[in-house]
Amino acid sequence: MRTKIVAGNWKMNNNLDETKKLIKGLKKSIKKTSLGKTRVIVAPTFVNLYSAVKRAKKSKIEVVAQNMHQAKNGAFTGEISADMLLDIGIKTVILGHSERRTYFGETDEILKNKVDTALENNLEVIFCFGELLEDRKSDNHFKVVENQLKKALFHLNKKDLKNIILAYEPVWAIGTGETASPEQAQEMHAFIRSLLNEQYGEKTSNGVSILYGGSVKPTNAKEIFSKPDVDGGLIGGASLKVDDFTAIIKSI
Ligand code: PGA
Repeated sequence: MRTKIVAGNWKMNNNLDETKKLIKGLKKSIKKTSLGKTRVIVAPTFVNLYSAVKRAKKSKIEVVAQNMHQAKNGAFTGEISADMLLDIGIKTVILGHSERRTYFGETDEILKNKVDTALENNLEVIFCFGELLEDRKSDNHFKVVENQLKKALFHLNKKDLKNIILAYEPVWAIGTGETASPEQAQEMHAFIRSLLNEQYGEKTSNGVSILYGGSVKPTNAKEIFSKPDVDGGLIGGASLKVDDFTAIIKSI
């Protein structure tokens, strides 16, 4: 059985006090929720990461990073290395989010390097990818997704893939209120699984969790999560409120 995962990407939101309150609230709310093996993840901004790690200790909440630089260390002003993340107890990093690709010029090549650095350091990766609206309109969405995966991930071996979580996030659905329909999500997730199948075989492919991201809300989470190839969600806006995020966690 694949691991179910609900991950909150807090992006550039929440000061220290808000971060503490959100973690505290979530700890309390998920205590009453039977989660089984479902993983609950939150990704605060770098500056609040250490505090969040400490506060989430001895709870089901895993704290992860939103990004990481590909180099070991050096003259990269403003950047954060794998070592630094490990040092404060981080075990997982989000890479390839569409906002990193769009606003910070992260290419498939850069992301390939970042993925390699993360895995070399035994960090698990939540790898994000997804097509633009124009790609979907021109019916190129499958091709775009296939290219993103092939260029940044498919050089990995089967063993590496155990440390990869995929997050399909159609860019047109991120922060727009426009969600991919459960059918559109399932169609793409099944396609992604078929690519994994071709590349790595059925056993490996069946073990990879594929999350959906893009305007997931308490009102649509249950239906999206009910699809056979959707193993959870990467949640932006709705992960900033304890009640909404808890309702989404309960939908899985
Ligand atoms: P959203 O963001 O839920 O606010 O659409 C999702 C994401 O960017 O991961």
